[in-house]
Amino acid sequence: MTSLKIVCIMSSVRDGRMAERMRILIQKQFDEILTPKGHSIHFIDPEEYDFPVLKTPLHFYPDQSEAPEKLRKLNDIVIAADAYIILTAEYNRSMPPALTNLMNHLPPPSFEFKPSGMVGYSQGNLGGAMAMAAARPFLSEMGCLPVKHFVVIPYVQNEVKEDGSTDNTHIHSSLKKLFTQVEWWAQAAKTQRTSGTPN
Ligand SMILES: Cc1cc2nc3c(=O)[nH]c(=O)nc-3n(C[C@H](O)[C@H](O)[C@H](O)COP(=O)(O)O)c2cc1C
Repeated sequence: MTSLKIVCIMSSVRDGRMAERMRILIQKQFDEILTPKGHSIHFIDPEEYDFPVLKTPLHFYPDQSEAPEKLRKLNDIVIAADAYIILTAEYNRSMPPALTNLMNHLPPPSFEFKPSGMVGYSQGNLGGAMAMAAARPFLSEMGCLPVKHFVVIPYVQNEVKEDGSTDNTHIHSSLKKLFTQVEWWAQAAKTQRTSGTPN
């Protein structure tokens, strides 16, 4: 078992976003379940990167050194990751644009041959399920295929408190199941990557 670098990509830049409490919830659960095993988590927040609507993806720059430094640094973080957690809200039954905009700035090979796990939430009754259905082909195309289990959190405004705590034991067990599956696939993929990846 080697230590894994997990990167969690957030999706919302909305004022007053629920993403904030979801970030804390994931960090807490990760610290309980995966930190003791030597794994680490890093959050990529599209709010911090503040990219414009996509004009030039990193891989479209003829000379990569001319790309914005923050884009190159983001790519380095993504390349170094062993797995991804996609933390997605649901906007009009799909993924928020900040998520796809951020990921579309980066070359798919940066994500390839590593697994992803999805955590969805919304203030409605489907808890991000439809956003995650939309995310599956997108993540497959990026080369970081989603594991089977996914976390659905409806009525996030009631279920998860501002400090990231929740009384809902189903959320705890569902996150644990997701982390366990992502860890398993990430270990397997990491081992396999040491002997190369196909073209
Ligand atoms: C543009 C937009 C579209 C939305 N569409 C949905 C939707 O399809 N399903 C749903 O359950 N909630 C929808 N909502 C409500 C979101 O679930 C709610 O705003 C949630 O807090 C979004 O996450 P965030 O606060 O981290 O941005 C929508 C919100 C916005 C701003």
